[in-house]
Amino acid sequence: MQLTIQRSSALHGEITLPGDKSISHRAALFAALAQGESRIENFLVSGVTGAMLRSLTALGVHWGLDGTTLSVAGRGVEGLVPPEGALDCGNSATTMRMLAGALAAAGTAAVLDGTPSLRRRPMDRIITPLQAMGVPIQAGPQGTAPLALQARPVGQALRALYYELPVASAQVKTCLLLAALAAGDPTTLVEPSLSRDHTERMLASMGVALRSGQVDGRPSVTLSPAEAIDLAPLRMTIPGDFSAAAFLIVAALVAPGSEVVLRGVGLNPTRTGLLASLWEMGAEIKVENERVYAGETLGDLRVRAGSLQGVSVSGGRVVDMIDEFPAFAVAAAFARGRTEVSQAEELRFKESDRIGSLCAELRKLGVQVEEHRDGFVIEGTGEVPGGAQVDPNGDHRLAMALAVAGLGAENPVTVLEAGIMSESFPEFTTAMGQLGAGLEVEGGQ
Ligand code: S3P
Repeated sequence: MQLTIQRSSALHGEITLPGDKSISHRAALFAALAQGESRIENFLVSGVTGAMLRSLTALGVHWGLDGTTLSVAGRGVEGLVPPEGALDCGNSATTMRMLAGALAAAGTAAVLDGTPSLRRRPMDRIITPLQAMGVPIQAGPQGTAPLALQARPVGQALRALYYELPVASAQVKTCLLLAALAAGDPTTLVEPSLSRDHTERMLASMGVALRSGQVDGRPSVTLSPAEAIDLAPLRMTIPGDFSAAAFLIVAALVAPGSEVVLRGVGLNPTRTGLLASLWEMGAEIKVENERVYAGETLGDLRVRAGSLQGVSVSGGRVVDMIDEFPAFAVAAAFARGRTEVSQAEELRFKESDRIGSLCAELRKLGVQVEEHRDGFVIEGTGEVPGGAQVDPNGDHRLAMALAVAGLGAENPVTVLEAGIMSESFPEFTTAMGQLGAGLEVEGGQ
């Protein structure tokens, strides 16, 4: 599918966001490890969560989807059965890294594999600490997938771990916390800065003994394994995905005269760094009806178009908006003045090298951008010329961000291979259309 998007008149209306991708992944997997039947509402049905569900089927887990309500018959932490072939994690590093932790706890043999793009993502970041716990797991010579996990003898506990993560990563943290369920003693993980903490909130709600703390000013989490690892089933409604909302927020900011309301958006403070950065740029975004539900904060966002100024982003803020740089870079391109992103080398290890690919594609749209090893600089002029075909490099977030750029650009923008958007936000084009954006889809959804 190819998507052409043109400068639109003001966007108006309300959108309710689909379920959060990170929480959906966790909900499906943790429910599979629970004892009993879980019921999860507002589950994100998308490419990447499909990879998780298919893998769970291959591991003997029964689940059913009724619209966006997911029911899962839990098999218990030790109940995953060895799959017949390699588990296909598709494009989803979240699926691969979290499943590796769950399989380590279960002691189940499996091979984890995925698309060529997933085979390029770094897996040594889970392999090294898992091996330190005594998990029999190997990656390929480059520290990448496929990953091969051998069975662990019944009754043999894993070694507890004290581990300082070199890079803040919720996927690594989740993988190791799941493995730690099968350790003999408490495991402590220390991060340079707190990554998204959905796993901690959800596992605690399922009865796992978890304690947050600090080691030399850095955030830590300690999991004390129980002798009988029984996880209570989940009954929850997943909040709307802030990372999907990010594209609609920026769309409303850059299409002059817009006013848009986004309903039921997850506002976990480890996820909302983009809001803080946009506020610093002068954006008019109001949080309304803030409420706490099932351990997560959510609210409605009212966004009004307006002029933006450049801003600097580095340090812990990078972690709080790690998935939002494609959307943020588009906001920076429409702002006036210099926007500087640094200490963000981690962006090179996402679905694409998000520093290289963002810089190359924004340049095609006439944006002044300079690539750095650990970030980028955008010199915003308040206008984006557009008038080009852009390649999302197989990256769903890049595809959506470039489409948003087309909305405010002087000339139409064509996003090639745009179907990749459905990895995380299958309703993106429908939502944009509902708000009044001028889009032309060629080649089917
Ligand atoms: C995720 C964590 C982040 C994020 C990814 C989802 C998660 O990755 O980029 O889209 O659900 O835990 P890292 O853990 O690699 O930072």
